[in-house]
Amino acid sequence: MKTDIAIIGAGPAGMLLAHLLAQEGISAVVLERRDRAYVEARVRAGVLEQVTVDLLRRLGLNARMERDGLVHGGTNLALDGELFHIDLAALTGGRHVVVYGQQEVMKDLFDAAPARGVEIVWNAEDVALHGLDGDEPIVTWTAQGEAKQLACRFVAGCDGFHGVSRAAIPATVLRQFERVYPFGWLGILADVPPADEELVYANHERGFALASMRSPTRSRYYVQCGLEEKLEDWPDERFWDELCLRLGPQLAGKVTRGAAFEKSIAPLRSFVAEPMRWGRLFLAGDAAHIVPPTGAKGMNLAASDVTFLAEALVEFFKSGKAGGIEGYSARALARVWKAERFSWWFTSVTHRFPEMDGFSRRLQMAELDYIRQSEAAQRSLAENYVGLPLL
Ligand code: FAD
Ligand code: DHB
Repeated sequence: MKTDIAIIGAGPAGMLLAHLLAQEGISAVVLERRDRAYVEARVRAGVLEQVTVDLLRRLGLNARMERDGLVHGGTNLALDGELFHIDLAALTGGRHVVVYGQQEVMKDLFDAAPARGVEIVWNAEDVALHGLDGDEPIVTWTAQGEAKQLACRFVAGCDGFHGVSRAAIPATVLRQFERVYPFGWLGILADVPPADEELVYANHERGFALASMRSPTRSRYYVQCGLEEKLEDWPDERFWDELCLRLGPQLAGKVTRGAAFEKSIAPLRSFVAEPMRWGRLFLAGDAAHIVPPTGAKGMNLAASDVTFLAEALVEFFKSGKAGGIEGYSARALARVWKAERFSWWFTSVTHRFPEMDGFSRRLQMAELDYIRQSEAAQRSLAENYVGLPLL
């Protein structure tokens, strides 16, 4: 087998890149370790920035998003139960976010793949990358015990945080920067109407909580939990009680309880690997960086990385110029680090840290109160939340 670009991983980064390349007539093969059902069932992101919305429109994959996505021109913060509204649209010249689940984005990307010539190899085991520092890299894998190989011009490592691509960069070249947070998020999905029309990010003495949604009849809620806690510790009733306490009485009265049909705990991490290119390998999305979920940036960064990468590859294949390829890592990292900063900051002001004393807690309260009173502070939050421009 031979192709222009071997893409490792069929998550948002890999599939968006495959569609962008197909649109420009550049051949690619996506190698995915799991099957489609598994990838589509993973419950993850829910909030799309303008950049991601624009990308789906550009690809003509926006029909269901326009129909079912919920356009949010605002969001809310709560401090010990007291809510205040951030008018994202008014503060950013009319920009907004769209609530549309990552699972739905994946479904749209997979459904459109065959007709657009996007080739996906499912259940590719033991993927390994070879010759990345030469002119013709080779990717090998096994399919049902049979050895396979693919020759290509470039490899796009879109295989998430636990993939093989980042590890293919020599340790002498790769620099990694990390913060691990001393807590996780316990998230549930339930088929009950959301408590509010918009999201609510709540800082409470007992810990962080987030009220989100997937549709007018499906709610997504999260509470901050300890890393040692287990799902068995959290029967539905305990979850709803804790959520209501943290959201405060004003919102708790509007929470509809119901059976959680999905419940999971996610650890929180900030992580960046530099550079995002080595020889003929490019990293994109979670393979190169992780943000804590508070800013809703993970999938959106995957979308901006591959927008930059597709631009660079199209330039190379159409005109032979390598400037875009050479500049990819620096360009992507400039946006990544700003999203890292925002996600770290938003996590820091909304969560309860184990070592927190009265001084730190009062600083948090003062910062949130400042945001409530200052349009300048709200504008800074809003422009980061809706997503910084692609520079
Ligand atoms: P992934 O989605 O991890 O995809 C990588 C793919 O590569 C996977 O399909 C994997 O199976 C495959 N793979 C891995 N290893 C190999 C291998 N060796 N060979 C072949 N294939 C391989 N982001 C937001 O933008 N907004 C949000 O609101 C948001 N909320 C979140 C909430 C939660 C609870 C979680 C966990 C995440 C959230 N995120 C959010 C983050 C977002 O889901 C990720 O950033 C996003 O999935 C990254 O996409 P990706 O394609 O880079 O990586
Ligand atoms: C969701 C997840 C987030 O991390 C976030 O900041 C907002 C919403 C969600 O899953 O709906």
